[in-house]
Order: sequence, then C-alpha cells, then structure tokens
Amino acid sequence: MKEASAATQPEIKYLSDYQPPAYTIDRTELYFDIQPAFTLVSCHLTMRRQRLEDLQLDGQSLELIACSVDDKPLSSDQYTVTAEHLIIQAKYLADSFTLSTKVKIFPAENTSLEGLYHSRGMYCTQCEAEGFRKITYFIDRPDVMSEFLVTIQAPEGRFNRMLSNGNCIQDSVLDGVRTVCWHDPFKKPCYLFALVVGNLAVVEDQFVTQSGRDVKLQIFVEDKDVEKCAHAMLSLQQAMRWDETVYGREYDLDVYMIVAVDDFNMGAMENKGLNVFNTSCVLAHPDTTTDQGFQRVEAVVAHEYFHNWSGNRVTCRDWFQLSLKEGFTVYRDSEFSADMNSRAVKRIEDASFLRAHQFVEDAGPMAHPVQPKSFIEISNFYTLTIYEKGAEVVRMMANLLGPERFRQATDLYFSRHDGQAVTCEDFVLAMEQAADIDLTQFRLWYDQAGTPTLEVTDDYDAEAQQYHLFFKQQIPALDPKRAPQAMHIPVRIALLGEAGFYRLQWGEEQAISSDNTEFVFDITQSEQQLSFNNIPEKPVPSLLRGFSAPIHLNFAYDFADMLTLLARDDDGFTRFNASQCIFEQLINAQMHQQACDTQLQQLAATFATLLHDVDDNDPALLTMLMSLPAQSYLLERFKPCDPLALHHACADIKRMLIQQLQQNMAKLYLALEQRLQDMQAVYQPFGQAIGLRALKNFCLSSLAFIEHEDVHSMIERQYFTANNMTDRYAALNASLRLQNHSALAKQLLVDFYQRFADESLVVNMWFQAQAVQESDSALIHMQQLLEHPAFDLQNPNKCRALIASFCQHNHAAFHAVDGSGYQFLATQIIALDKLNPQIAARMMSPLSHWRKYTVNHAEHMRAALQTIADQPTLSKDVFEVVNKSLNNSTGE
Ligand code: TRP
Ligand code: ZN
Repeated sequence: MKEASAATQPEIKYLSDYQPPAYTIDRTELYFDIQPAFTLVSCHLTMRRQRLEDLQLDGQSLELIACSVDDKPLSSDQYTVTAEHLIIQAKYLADSFTLSTKVKIFPAENTSLEGLYHSRGMYCTQCEAEGFRKITYFIDRPDVMSEFLVTIQAPEGRFNRMLSNGNCIQDSVLDGVRTVCWHDPFKKPCYLFALVVGNLAVVEDQFVTQSGRDVKLQIFVEDKDVEKCAHAMLSLQQAMRWDETVYGREYDLDVYMIVAVDDFNMGAMENKGLNVFNTSCVLAHPDTTTDQGFQRVEAVVAHEYFHNWSGNRVTCRDWFQLSLKEGFTVYRDSEFSADMNSRAVKRIEDASFLRAHQFVEDAGPMAHPVQPKSFIEISNFYTLTIYEKGAEVVRMMANLLGPERFRQATDLYFSRHDGQAVTCEDFVLAMEQAADIDLTQFRLWYDQAGTPTLEVTDDYDAEAQQYHLFFKQQIPALDPKRAPQAMHIPVRIALLGEAGFYRLQWGEEQAISSDNTEFVFDITQSEQQLSFNNIPEKPVPSLLRGFSAPIHLNFAYDFADMLTLLARDDDGFTRFNASQCIFEQLINAQMHQQACDTQLQQLAATFATLLHDVDDNDPALLTMLMSLPAQSYLLERFKPCDPLALHHACADIKRMLIQQLQQNMAKLYLALEQRLQDMQAVYQPFGQAIGLRALKNFCLSSLAFIEHEDVHSMIERQYFTANNMTDRYAALNASLRLQNHSALAKQLLVDFYQRFADESLVVNMWFQAQAVQESDSALIHMQQLLEHPAFDLQNPNKCRALIASFCQHNHAAFHAVDGSGYQFLATQIIALDKLNPQIAARMMSPLSHWRKYTVNHAEHMRAALQTIADQPTLSKDVFEVVNKSLNNSTGE
C-alpha cells in the first residue's frame, strides 16, 4: 500500500530507548513581555550536566533573538538552530551554568491551541504533552523537573489577570507597565507550566484542609459566566475533602485557581495550582446545562484536582508512562463520582463506555498497550486505552488488594516517590510490596494490547449435584515479536438458583460477600475449570459481576436464563450485560431475517414488569437496561458488518419493542412528570431526580421514535414549561426523532437558537442535535450548518458538536452507500489539519476502522483515507493515524 506523504518521514520514539537526561534544570526563570503583535519570552535556566554530550534543547516556531551562557552571548558558530532544536556543543559548557535565551512568539497566529495562544481575547497556555517547546527553548520532557519563577509584564490597565503557577510574590506598576511575579515552590516538569493573561471575573471561596490550613479557591471566567460557577466550586470542595478522607492527600499550596477557556483541545488540564478548563467542563447552570453536563463538571473538576498528587507531586518519567497518572486519576475520579452519586449506576456507565469505545480502539489499527512501546506523536496517545482501560487495571489491583491494603500501597507509592518522575512499574511495585503479593503475571495488563476474550461453558451433573464452569482465554496476537501470553483475569461469580443465590463452599479468602454467595476467581491459565459441589439444580451463572475485568466474556445463555439475570440478578452490571446480550441476539436475528417475535414479546414483558415498580428498580438503571447497545459495540461483535444493515436492524428492534411498551411508557411518562414536579419545584441536579428525569425522557424519546399519538403535545408542553435544560433539550431531541421535517421540530429549533444564541455551549448542543438527526438531506444540512455564522472550525467544541457527532451517530448519512459521508469527513480533516493537528487526528477514528466493514463500505472508507494520505503536507498527528489505518492490519 502507498505510504502517506510527509515532507520527512517522522521519527518513531521507543520506550526501550529511554535514557536519563544529559542535562538537568534546577531553576527556570521566565519573563513574558506581552505586546499586541507578539510576545517576548526570556528564559534563564540554571543547569547541570549529567553526561558529556551536546546540549539539545527543544523549540518549535520560536524566533531566537539572543542566546548566552553564564551571561556571555554565544556567537553564531557556537550553536545550531534547527526547526525543532537549539543545540550547543558540550565544549562551550561547564559542569553547571546558566543558559539564557530570548525568543519572539506569535500567540494570535497559534491555532493549534498548544503552547501560548489566544482564546476570545485572553492569552492562555497548554503545555501537555509537548507544548512548552512552543513557548521557549527547554528540555521538554517530564523527567526534567525544576523550580519555576515567572514574571509577566503588560501595559498597565490592559489586563486585570496575569496568572501563573504557585504563589503571587509581586504585583506592581512602574512607568505604565504592570509586573506580576509568581513562584511555584514545588519542582515540576514543564508540561505543568501555565500562564493566563486576560480580563476575567473571579468567583472565590475557600477550603480548610484537614491540618487546618486555609486555601483560597478561585474560578476565573468571563463576566457573563459568573453565575455558572457554583457547581464547579462545590465539586472542588467535595473533591478536596474526599482525597483527604479516602487517600489521606492534602492540598499543598495556598491558592487553587481554575480558568475557563472556550478554545481547548481536551476537557481540562491539571497545571500546578492553575488548572485550565474547557468551559464545557466548568460552567454549569440549570438553564443551560443538562444533568449529564453537571455530572461531567463534577467528574472533571475532581479529576484535575486529584492530579495534584497522582500526576504532579508524583509525575511520569516519560510519556510511555502516561497511564501512570491518567489511569490512576480516572480510577480516583470514578470512585469519587460513585461516592457522590449512585455507585451501581456509575459502574454500569463506565463499563458500557469502555465496551462501546475502548474495545473498539483496542481492536483497531491504533491499538496499543496501557504502557505503549512506541509512538510517533504522543498527542495521539491520549486514548481510551490509556485513560479508561488504565483505570480498569488500577481497579483490578485495588480489588485484588482490598481497601485497606490498597490504601497502604498508595500511601507507600506517594511517600516513596514524592517529587519524582516515575514509571508504571514503580506503581505496581508499591502495590506488590505493601500487600505482599505477586503481580508478575498481572503486569501483562500493561504490556499486551487488545481485549482478552474469555469463552465460558458449563456442565451440570444432576446425580453428583456438581456444577462445572470451563474457562478458555484468548488474547489477540497484536505483537509480531511475541506470542500472546495468558493473563491474570479476576472473574467475580455467583450462581443463581430458583430460591436465590447459592451459598458456595470455597476458601474464605476469595469470598467477597459475607453470606458466601459471591466469589472472585483468578483465571491465570489459558484453560481452567471450576467445580461446585452440593448444587441441587442447574444454576444460572452470574459472571463477571461488577465488570471485574475489562474483557469480552462469552457464555451461551438460554434466552430464558438471560431474562432471569435481567430480572433477578442483584448486580447492576450483570443485569445490564444480560439486556445487552438479549438485544445483541435480537438484532443479529433481525439482520439475518430470522423471526424473533416471541423473544421480543418476552423481553417486553420483563421490561413491563420492571417499569411497574420504578421504586424498587433504580430509574437510572432501568433506563440503561432498556437502551440498545451502541452500534460501535455491536459492530465489534458482528464484524465484518454492513453498517446500514446494522443500523436498520437496530431501528427495527427498537421500534418493535417500543410498540409493545408504548402504553406503559405513555402512562409512566405522565406519572414521572407529575412526580418530578412534586419533588422538585426548583430544579436540582442531584440524586434520584436525575434518574427519574432520565427515565421520563427515555420514554418521551421512545414515544417520539414510533410517533405515538400523544407525543406531539407531550413534547411541546415539556419544551415550553421546562425549568431546566435537561428537560428542554430532551424535548428538542425528541422532536427531531419525529418524521422528517416535522413542523414542531422546525419550530423548536428556531426557538432554541433564539433563546440561547449568546450561550456558546448551548449553541454547540443545538449543532449536535441537528448533526445526529436522521433525514434524507442530512449531509446537505451539515454543509449548511458548517456555513452557519456561529460555527467555527477553529473551536474544538464546535467541531466535536457538529462534525464528530455526525460521523459517530448519524449512521444512515455517514455510511451512505456512495461514500459521500466518508469523503465529507476527509475534506474536514484536511482543512482542520492545517489549523489544529491534534483535533484533526482525533476525528479520524470513524474512518480508521474501515477493515471492520463489508467490502463496499470498507473500500469507500479506504479511499477517503487515501485522499488524506495523498496530501502534500500532513502533520505528524494525522500522518501517524492515516498510515497506521492504511497499513496496520493487526487487530482485525
Ligand atoms: N492531562 C489532561 C487530563 O487531565 C489531558 C490534557 C489536557 C491534554 N489538555 C491536553 C493532553 C492537551 C494533550 C493535549 O487528562
Ligand atoms: Zn488526566
């Protein structure tokens, strides 16, 4: 296959090439002179040589103005400047010295949103992973840690905020120039550096730490957004308290600042003492934010806060260790959210998200281990595997150790490595040593890519009253250099009988429920067997309870047994999994024109019973049980697959199911509407109300899907009387499920835009709602929306809302048989790559899975990828993804 063109073939970096830095930096002094057309950055580095080698500093898009060593200017023959480096020969350097550079940079022209850039009139930085080199010459790697002193200068009166990390030690005006100095007492790698300069309002509160210190909490936002900070502030305080209680971790500076910016590549960034947040992850108000949005703010605020210990105080040695901080921190924020809300629901959300997205990644051309072994562009490795699978790996260890020993292990890890840049291995060692267990085999979770599959079969011997389970694990062969090895897979199991769960006779140490009904079995061999005695009747096995490992588990349940688990199991995940398996079977049958009416009726009857006691069944859980699996997940199960056939089969099953349940749903909708009104005259994004709203809006959307006779009036009433965005947006979306171009949908779209035209985040929701709307003219409508004055290709939130949503969720239009959806995406990626390579590369994933589709679709997708590959210039980011997509057939 033809290679993608790139001016020079980008270099591949390998974990096995790691070497400690040849020079270290003890102290970094930075001076920022903010001028209208450019910014001058002066940098003084106090350095020490560790090895006799030329000094190679990283730098990109910098205009070097001056360079000196120990205050003596270097002549041009003493150093070399390339597109990516400043190199000074070792012979001009002593064992320790000060290196000073002065560079000119152009933030207003920086559309990559990495380094120092402009966002709606403010200056801000994003340095992780390798953005600091766009600000000044530096050894831009996380194991070079130094103390930072930052001075910012700008004309007096121009900006009311001039912020950086740590404590403000000077703020003065002289001759019309304001000078502000910041000192961060904690050594840090440069990826945690931040600078924010602009005119912003502040919302302030405080927190008293467990040892009694006062911490000032500040959230900086645009004036118009000050009313939207309360939820983030409360979440921050709760996260600070939780980390003290659960991990014994206290905050370490006197001030904790959060700045909201509208143009941001990811969710948020944990810069020491000065977090920078995407507005979408900090602002929340009932009028403009959905329940989901509120929960996202809570989770992201907590995530970034938790990084202060898992990431900042203890950081990564190199970027191959990224999951050391991200996997652990996602595990921490997920446990926090579980404690703040419903633990069972959170667990299902996480499991379902992992299966719908991470499993897909792990079976595609970008598959990589939790600790990657090589990469071209590190920005491409901020993946679901690093974050979510990494979190599951930490969760498995936490479960293996149990809460007390896990706490001892994290205490050991934090105290042993405070102030250091370490590896995933250091984390596992702390677990092993604190708990005195052997994790040798477990370490494969860091090294082997791909999702393991556990094939499980059973056998019941009525005479002997014995029940046997047989396990066979399959690890995808993704590493050409090494045959896959059997993994350590913890499987939580219970056996369900007529009279409830069997009490099992097994070793004490494995029981995780006091009544001996639930056990964890460590599957460590390729094939393994378990036998249970004194089982009077053939049980229904409840397997992988709590999603105890991130794997595919296949067991050929009878249909009736799946219904039993769905109705009677007490583990949320296994109930959810049962419903997903049933849907999978029904959709599969529908795709192959096999009748499934009886089974569908039985499923509907089970749901009808569950809907009857909304109070015994968590309404949020019920909503998840009734939702069809994501098509991305089904694609993985059915590949190679025709995406349109899959889409239509899903729609058919959904329609048939709702038709059976429509009376129940219509009644329930009205009952829930009333109940929510009685319960919450004033909307609050907490507790049971969230679940009740989710179920109510699920009913509304379902009724819209089948054009139930009363649904128009329900939608209209809900839209216009809503006192919160969750209900209003659900009504808008329901109207868009009605047949093509309904007058109601048109009316609501116009109204929604008029109401919220000034709320950029809500306008994004408006784009998203239309991007996913099914219609014959969906692609034409997309073209029109791209031309809409509120759309902006330079704003990542807008790209995600419109382009990414269309490609991921508008199956009928994106997968159009003529390939027009794929070409549309290719065109957008090519345009985006010139502005923002990180976002361009991220948007490629719908195309990169082309090998999973049937030939007509696969060919069209490959052609779209080739169009991208044929561009005369490509960023490293897009280059890496497009080449792996075209050439890497592993995982298929
Ligand atoms: N460390 C950030 C987090 O909390 C991730 C992040 C934010 C990031 N912005 C980025 C990564 C830009 C790469 C590029 O997860
Ligand atoms: Zn993170």
